[in-house]
Amino acid sequence: MVCLGNICRSPMAKAILIKKLNEKNITRVEVDSAGTSDYHSGGKADYRTMESGKKHGIDLSTHRARQFTRHDFDTFDLIYAMDSTNYSDILNQASKKEEAEKVKMILNEINPGANLSVPDPWFGGEKDFEKVFAMLDKACDIILEKIQKEEKQ
Ligand code: 4NP
Repeated sequence: MVCLGNICRSPMAKAILIKKLNEKNITRVEVDSAGTSDYHSGGKADYRTMESGKKHGIDLSTHRARQFTRHDFDTFDLIYAMDSTNYSDILNQASKKEEAEKVKMILNEINPGANLSVPDPWFGGEKDFEKVFAMLDKACDIILEKIQKEEKQ
C-alpha cells in the first residue's frame, strides 16, 4: 500500500487489510505500506489516522513511516497506489515489465479502469479521514475476496 507520506492513507489501507485477513485466519499474505516521499520516514501515523483507526477497532500506534524502495518490487506481488501521482512515481522506478505490472490503483478494485484517486486527507479534517477509511474498507473487501478465491484454488 503506497501513498505520499505513509502517515495517512497507506498505513490505514495496510491496517484494514491485515484486520480482514486476520478475521479470516489467512496468514500467508504479507502486507506493508510505504510512502513515495521520505518526508515522514521514521515518524508515526498522523494522529487523525490513528483516531480514525481507533473508531474502527484498529490500532495504528506502532506504525512507523518508511519510503518506498525499488526493493519492494522484489518483495511484493502487488503494489497498490492510493492516487495517480503515487502511481506514476512508483511506475517511474520500475525497471521491467513484470515490475510495472504489479502496480495498481487501489480504487480500481471498486471501479475497474476508472483510475480514481483516494483523496489526500492531510489538509482535511476528521470527516475526510472517515471518507478515506470507508473507501479503503470497500477496496480491501474486494482484495480480500480475491485472496479468498485464490485460497480455494
Ligand atoms: P498520505 O498523506 O500520503 O496519505 O500519508 C500525506 C501526508 C503528509 C504529506 C502529504 C500527504 N506531506 O506533504 O507532508
